[in-house]
Amino acid sequence: MTLSTAFTELFGIRHPVALAPMGGPAGGALAAAVSEAGGLGLVGGGRGDLGWLDRELAIVRAGTTRSWGVGFLTWAAQPSVVEHALSFGPTAVMLSFGDPAALARLVRRAGVALILQVTDLAEARQALDLGADVIVAQGTAAGGHGGSPGLSTLTFVPVLADLAAPVPVLAAGGIADGRGLAAALVLGAAGALIGTRFLATPEALVDPAAVKAIIEGSGEQTERSTVLDIARGVPWPRRYPARALRHPFVSRWQGREDTLAADADARTAYADGIEAGDWPATPVWASEAIDLITDLRPAADLVTDLVEQAERALRPAPRR
Ligand SMILES: Cc1cc2nc3c(=O)[nH]c(=O)nc-3n(C[C@H](O)[C@H](O)[C@H](O)COP(=O)(O)O)c2cc1C
Repeated sequence: MTLSTAFTELFGIRHPVALAPMGGPAGGALAAAVSEAGGLGLVGGGRGDLGWLDRELAIVRAGTTRSWGVGFLTWAAQPSVVEHALSFGPTAVMLSFGDPAALARLVRRAGVALILQVTDLAEARQALDLGADVIVAQGTAAGGHGGSPGLSTLTFVPVLADLAAPVPVLAAGGIADGRGLAAALVLGAAGALIGTRFLATPEALVDPAAVKAIIEGSGEQTERSTVLDIARGVPWPRRYPARALRHPFVSRWQGREDTLAADADARTAYADGIEAGDWPATPVWASEAIDLITDLRPAADLVTDLVEQAERALRPAPRR
């Protein structure tokens, strides 16, 4: 049994699995490993740091002969940075969070596949108008940033699959094993885009302490908030909170975000907490699905496990 879908056919790949372009952790080695294993590896270009991109895009280009791509945060990435990334020859560019119109035109003009991640139906309709080749339906279980109020993955994916057809939809948010991948396909998605599970791989560029916290943590200990971005002074649009492991600063400021934004002393206290080792320099962004993440696995093994488990889950059972 092979899990062939409109998504695998579009990119000429074996498995309906995409690595989420996690800004920072999803470097060239991780993306290349996922692509070589038969999925679609997406480098996490984030806000578009040129030095980081030059290094990691060179690594992915040298590390795989298969399809790969790169993702950017739409609200932050400059057109010149996306153009620079295009010069490395990606098969796809993914854009998330913000109005993608200008960057999307640039990607389409280059003849490169356009993947747009959406968090609600208005964003989905715009993605279709812009001619997205693939739409990622991100539900609220997702690790890292997502839409507010947002919809759960289970409800958002089938609605979007109906709306977007024949454009393939990938499900994202809370998928960390093959049962989640199987469920995504049953819901009408053409595959899954997976983030947090790939943090627990040797190839991810991530603090080992964060990986340990994810492996030991529970989804019940994650929370969505804008507090940490305000405290860090990162100008994320407020409609995109982020899911992270519980953090003392969030407990202190949740519900008083405007006060925090106006309180320079409080933001200094956040920086002091990092300096004192009270909390990590980067929050531990993590999915609601982390109870399913119990070990560090090479990315290629993870792709194989995901697909084999999904195939088993999709086999007709004589009796349930
Ligand atoms: C550590 C981390 C960083 C992320 N950074 C980005 C990013 O830079 N760009 C982006 O499009 N999505 C980013 N995401 C969100 C993913 O694209 C995706 O929606 C999410 O990981 C899916 O949910 P999951 O973590 O439950 O698999 C990030 C997610 C995590 C966990």
